[in-house]
Parts: sequence; C-alpha cells; structure tokens
Amino acid sequence: MIEKIKKMISDPLYAQYVWRRIYLKLLGTEKVFAHKSEFRSDSENGEYGAAVMKALESQKYFDNFKRNPEYQAILEHVNRDDGEKYLNITLSRNDGLFDLALKTSCRADDVGNPIKYKYPDIAEALSPNTLRYIKVSSDLSGLFGREFKSIAEIGCGYGGQALVNDQLLSVNLATLFDLPFVNELIKKYLNSMLLNGAYRVRAINESCPEPYDLVISNYAFSELPSILQRTYIKKVMAGAKRGYLTMNSGLGGERSEGKLTLKQLEELLPPFEIFEEEPLTAPHNYIIVWGHNGDFASKYMKQKKLD
Ligand SMILES: C[S@@+](CC[C@H](N)C(=O)[O-])C[C@H]1O[C@@H](n2cnc3c(N)ncnc32)[C@H](O)[C@@H]1O
Repeated sequence: MIEKIKKMISDPLYAQYVWRRIYLKLLGTEKVFAHKSEFRSDSENGEYGAAVMKALESQKYFDNFKRNPEYQAILEHVNRDDGEKYLNITLSRNDGLFDLALKTSCRADDVGNPIKYKYPDIAEALSPNTLRYIKVSSDLSGLFGREFKSIAEIGCGYGGQALVNDQLLSVNLATLFDLPFVNELIKKYLNSMLLNGAYRVRAINESCPEPYDLVISNYAFSELPSILQRTYIKKVMAGAKRGYLTMNSGLGGERSEGKLTLKQLEELLPPFEIFEEEPLTAPHNYIIVWGHNGDFASKYMKQKKLD
C-alpha cells in the first residue's frame, strides 16, 4: 500500500489511473474478462476488456479507442520523448525503414484517433506508439532480414505491430494470438486497412503446435502467468526458428511475480541472447533474441549485463 502511494506521488499518470479505477468501481462499471482469475495476464484487469468491448459495439467509440484512459493504461501510452528516442534509433541505422514508414504506416495512422506529436525535421505529426512499432520492425529487419513466410505474435494489442511489419517487411502470413474479444478488435482494425500479406487471429486454445519462422511478443508473453507462458512456449515458441521478445518480467521487480524466471526461460526456450531494451522503459526490462544475425546485434544492440 505504501509503495502504491509513493508511486502515485511520483507518477501522475499512475495516480490518474488509480483514481479512475476507484471512480469506475464507485460507478459500478461492468468488468470484462476472458479467463478465470488464475489464467489472467497483467492486462486482464476487467476495465481493459470493457474498453475493448465498447470499441467493438460502437463505431463512435472505435473511432477514438486509442484515447480511452482504460485502454491507455494497457496500450498506447508511449510518451513523446520515448517516441523521439525510437525515431532517432531507427534513423541512426540508415536502413530506409523510416522513410518507407512515412509513405505507408504513418500515412494511414489515424484509425482510433492516436495522440500525435511533432518531431524535429518531420513535417507531419507522428504517434510515439507507431514510432515504437517502426523501431521494432527495424530490429527485426536487422536481426533476421526482411522476408518472412510466417510470423507468430503473442499479445498484439490492436494489431499495430503486425500492421507496421506488413508495410515495412515482407510477411506472407502473420498469426496473431490474443484474447478472443481482443482478436475481434484486431480484425476490425486490420480490416480497415489494405495489407500486403495475410493475417489470422487465434486464441491459444484454438491452436495446435506449429513451426513458425519467427515468433515475436512485445510486453505481452512476459505479462502472462507462468502456467500460460508454458503453454505458449509449447504451442508457439519451442518450434520457432527465430524469436524476439521484449520482456518486463523474469529478472526481478514486482512484475515478475507469478511469471517464469530468466533461468526457467533458458531451460524452456531455444538457446537465446539477452539485450538491453532501448530506450529502457522500465528498470527490469530486456529483450530476448534467438536465431539472429550476430553482426547486426553487435553493431546496434547492447548485451544485457546480469548481476
Ligand atoms: C501491454 S499489451 C502489449 C500489446 C502490444 N504487444 C504492444 O506492444 O502494443 C499486452 C497484450 O497482451 C494481450 N493479452 C492478455 N492476455 C493474453 C493472453 N492470455 N494471450 C495472448 N495475449 C494476451 C493483451 O490483450 C494485450 O494485447
């Protein structure tokens, strides 16, 4: 409790989130869950599910879903400064992906009414969340090349990373794993665009083990309870030739409670390397990568030093 109060004092956004939860509780707003409590991830707080359902039920709501505070507590909360850091990292690599993004992903980036900011030397305002997706696509391109027969993604939000990958890389088929009602939002979002490749959505219970070319997950696999992490490893990750996971659990901190430790992940996943998350968005974050091009990693990524 004291920790929570200290965090509320030091972090106004967190304070706003806590007050809003209290307000919604007083209003008696209905919560929406996909799983029984023991199978819920950090994001299954009930309010996130309710925000997703509203976006599915009302076009007016869908047109603004990226501004919903309950939605922003889980996704769509990259701040302007981190957006600039993602932008500068991508530009520093000279891989042409940012220019391509300006003509593609950024041009179409108005569905759901994202918050956008102006950045130096760029005419149009940009969403910092999309800048993060572009930086991840740039990582994928450097680490694994640009051609993928099949990518599996675990925990895909509204499909933002999948959309940017589709525009900047060559992806034949993306299999997107999320909660059943989130999968409906992904379909609504991606079907409002025109893709180069194809996608399909899956809930984990609807899938059998398959060998994917690449499996990715940003702040999502790491938020699942360990029992579900083991299932995703068995069905989606163990057979994947390549992997890229942005992690916010496994190395200590309160988010690691109930999740697999890094040592357990080393026993269960294909042999991997560990890199710094850049920019670092939380103290215990890191990136797991396997099956990659070591030259790109040694030039552009920093090995994570473990105590
Ligand atoms: C913090 S968000 C990250 C979303 C996205 N990767 C991004 O970076 O914008 C966590 C994601 O995990 C999803 N999620 C929650 N429980 C899940 C589950 N059991 N299986 C798959 N995805 C889940 C949420 O719906 C959400 O899309």
